[in-house]
Amino acid sequence: MFLVHIEGNNKMKIKILGMAIVAVVISFASSASDEKMMILAGQEIFKKCSSCHSSDSSKNTFGPSLTGVINRKAASLPRFAYSEALKKSGLTWTEANLRRWIAGNDILVPGTRMRHVQITDIAEQNYLLAYLKSL
Ligand code: HEC
Repeated sequence: MFLVHIEGNNKMKIKILGMAIVAVVISFASSASDEKMMILAGQEIFKKCSSCHSSDSSKNTFGPSLTGVINRKAASLPRFAYSEALKKSGLTWTEANLRRWIAGNDILVPGTRMRHVQITDIAEQNYLLAYLKSL
């Protein structure tokens, strides 16, 4: 009986904690605009990219700079040694193509030098695109 009682008590605590977290998230969401939230979430996801891509516009690091990448022609930055595969892809980085790229870059452009990434979750893609647009 005693054990059951403790268990029930803990569940209650977990529930209350859960509600507190929801409350914090809701108050955060209403204090920042939706777009800001999207960009912040995207910035988190961009950590998967930032080992190779700088968000600093002037820098190509291991990967090309992604500042202004939306609607840019693929492999079009000067001073970056792109793969032949990407140069010949004929792609423009529309939102649709960027989604395909981050869902499986080496499937979209076989032979690309960029290591395989796979972000297929639409919400995560939305966040990442919001962040890229903000650069
Ligand atoms: C391991 C390093 C690495 C990681 C991690 C990485 N990239 Fe890349 N990325 C590259 C390289 C290298 C290229 C050039 C590819 C080529 O020439 O084939 C590239 C190219 C690109 C391009 C094309 C840019 C252009 O100028 O045409 C985009 C867009 C891009 N990456 C987005 C991303 C995003 C978004 C992420 C994170 C989800 C990411 N990359 C993660 C190395 C990386």
